[in-house]
Amino acid sequence: MRKHIVAGNWKMNKTLQEGVALATELKEILAAEKPNCEVIIGTPFIHLATVSELVKDCVIAVSAENCANKASGAYTGEVSAAMVKSTGAEYVILGHSERREYYHETPEILKEKVDLALAEGLKVIFCIGESLEQREAGEQEAVCKAELAGSVFHLTPEQWKSIVIAYEPIWAIGTGKTATAEQAEEIHAYIRKCVAEVYGAELADETSILYGGSCKASNAPELFQKPDIDGGLIGGASLKAPDFKGIIDAWK
Ligand code: 13P
Repeated sequence: MRKHIVAGNWKMNKTLQEGVALATELKEILAAEKPNCEVIIGTPFIHLATVSELVKDCVIAVSAENCANKASGAYTGEVSAAMVKSTGAEYVILGHSERREYYHETPEILKEKVDLALAEGLKVIFCIGESLEQREAGEQEAVCKAELAGSVFHLTPEQWKSIVIAYEPIWAIGTGKTATAEQAEEIHAYIRKCVAEVYGAELADETSILYGGSCKASNAPELFQKPDIDGGLIGGASLKAPDFKGIIDAWK
């Protein structure tokens, strides 16, 4: 059966000290009460090595929020997939709408990042999702399919096993507007169908598809009850350990 996952995306929040404090608090909470799902925390680059060391003997896995689309060399300020891997991180989030929008990451650039991340043995949380305008025009399915086709559907079936999909409707990110569980389930089922068309029903069935966008402890149980929603990618509510734990508990 596919994995249930609750993943945090801290985005550009927390100094190193604040991040270590948050990871420590979460580690203690989860040591006292084992989670019923995989727990991942996505942190800024500067936290990765310290937080990976801190959680190495516990249930928490660590993710980067990005990596470069080049392997190494004269790319000032960039951080490669190999560097991410060397910190002890297991995952990298790629394709987040904030990266697509503010840093102009195209499907081609994301494809390069995905290939480099997988080559280094990282697992990828690949984000897709439509804008409000696209949702109002009924284009959400076409947008999601095109984002998958543009950056990840070239992978081999073996590589695909290292992919987690996160459906994050842009209109629901940080807005307090969650997709209803029905809206989310509808598109998650569609995404799984698209995966099945490329990789077959069995692999599609093993693919974890997370929902992201104003997910919190109060709406997570309803979302996670849906058959094609395998967990969440959490922004704001991952910044406080009790809030994040509240979402993890939705799997209880
Ligand atoms: P919020 O949970 O703050 O809406 O952010 C969702 C998100 O973008 C996670 O990647």
